[in-house]
Amino acid sequence: MLLLRAVAGRRLPPLTQLPRGCSRLAAGSATPEGQPGATPGGQPGATPEGQPGATPGGQPGATPGGHRGAAPVLAALLGIGAVLAYGERQRRSAQAAQAPPSPPYPRYTRAEVAQHRTPRDRVWVTYGTDVFDVTEFVELHPGGPDKILLAAGGALEPFWALYAVHSQPHVLELLRDYKVGELSPEDAAVTPGDTADPFAGDPPRHPALRVNSSKPFNAEPPPELLTQSFLTPNELFFTRNHLPVPSVEPGSYRLRVEVPGGRALSLSLAELRRRFPKHEVTATLQCAGNRRSEMSRERPVKGLDWGIGAISTARWGGARLRDVLLAAGFGEKSGATEDWHVCFEGLDTDATGTPYGASIPLKRALSGEAEVLLAYEMNGQELPRDHGFPVRALVPGVVGARSVKWLRSVVVSPSESPSHWQQNDYKGFCPSVDWDSVDFRSAPAIQELPVQSAITEPRPGAAVPAGELTVKGYAWSGGGREVIRVDVSLDGGRTWREAALGPRPERGRGWAWALWELRAAAPAGTRLEIVCKAVDSSYNVQPDSVGGIWNLRGVLSNAWHRVGVTVTP
Ligand code: MTE
Repeated sequence: MLLLRAVAGRRLPPLTQLPRGCSRLAAGSATPEGQPGATPGGQPGATPEGQPGATPGGQPGATPGGHRGAAPVLAALLGIGAVLAYGERQRRSAQAAQAPPSPPYPRYTRAEVAQHRTPRDRVWVTYGTDVFDVTEFVELHPGGPDKILLAAGGALEPFWALYAVHSQPHVLELLRDYKVGELSPEDAAVTPGDTADPFAGDPPRHPALRVNSSKPFNAEPPPELLTQSFLTPNELFFTRNHLPVPSVEPGSYRLRVEVPGGRALSLSLAELRRRFPKHEVTATLQCAGNRRSEMSRERPVKGLDWGIGAISTARWGGARLRDVLLAAGFGEKSGATEDWHVCFEGLDTDATGTPYGASIPLKRALSGEAEVLLAYEMNGQELPRDHGFPVRALVPGVVGARSVKWLRSVVVSPSESPSHWQQNDYKGFCPSVDWDSVDFRSAPAIQELPVQSAITEPRPGAAVPAGELTVKGYAWSGGGREVIRVDVSLDGGRTWREAALGPRPERGRGWAWALWELRAAAPAGTRLEIVCKAVDSSYNVQPDSVGGIWNLRGVLSNAWHRVGVTVTP
């Protein structure tokens, strides 16, 4: 559960400052703050916490519901990162207005906490030995009120174990603002029951990977290994997981395929392999957040701090999505038009059973040229668990987020996927849009990615020997637009030379990156600012700096890549 202060300019009256008689008032019916007789938290005249006369074990009073109208709208519009940012802002203004509660806190038993399960009775949760009243946050929860209410009256730990994004110092700091008490000594000694680690079944990973978050697992290969070979070894392929990796028994796996006016298919892995010709495509997959760390150096953004390695290339094998849709009866009778979508759902689910999901335009799914796969092979092996075993969507030229792993269903629909990751994430905005003004409905979901390149060798800050310097990197563009040129500068962009592009096995198909190399003289004792930029077949070129493309989620970061090195005397 993500718990943030989100009540602009107000704070919840601390439990101990409320007279017991307020305890059963429904939200919205309490005495409004500032009215005679109200006891706003921290205001002069409020009963000090922990003083005789406080009501440990009693019900806290409800606060006025003045913000409830705005809350659902925000919850619907904003993603987790958005709510973090929004909540932080509101928390600060609330803090500025009023002093936080202070110890000693009243003590509660777990049974008492368990009585607070609904907004009417107040929503309480525990974390460690602390008790929090999060009633005012319920409607703002990014996953919706229903999900935060799953933890109501009990411990947060089992939920935070699943949504590891919460286990960060600043989230704990925000949570502290809601503290209303502490667990009784007897209950504090008992660990809450269901704390099984939902990530315990995740597969082992290669130690060379640079881990950006371990639960869920997100990691990238180190730059010097990234361009060692044209195809990224499966063990080093970057991994982007939002949830625990599901364990799938291949013998009982079924893929559901639904098309309007057709017949629903339920395909086993064996049927998928047998009934449809195997098609192979060499394609690069890139996360929308690749190179986010450079964007956050410009101004902070919300998201995992990816370096230049949230990109990798593999040879994928599987059934064409087009073939499977046609076999399921897709045709003229379906009534579907070009603006329809194909929605994918994964087998990875959150605590409420909601799966990861995303969609692509139907037009792309049906196009023979787009080569969209239901992939079961990666570099000639079965898909590794981290990369979607046994079947994933593989959408060449499109942001990685749409290549849904651990595929459980494929549905042709007039609407885009309703998933959070399609609606409220993976979208780009003007640099002036912040978490107060963002409207996720106003921007289309990212599909094809822009042209990209980065320097993998030498490393930033390296001391390189005088003589001949070899600069290496990758370049790629979305939508099948092949990279036609990579320009490299050693003097910060004043003068340029053209890098040599390495061999590309599937020329003309344009789904895979180009590895490139430039050899240049490195005079002793100099400082070089190496810069690269790629040009694609539409003559799109990368922007020179990140300022003009900065966006609050730190996606689509594709400015010229710069690496400073010194040449040893
Ligand atoms: N599919 C499922 N089911 N769950 C996920 O978390 N992450 C998406 C996509 N498909 C994801 C998913 C994102 S954001 C990316 S970038 C790619 O998978 C990453 O694929 P990889 O981990 O195989 O590199």
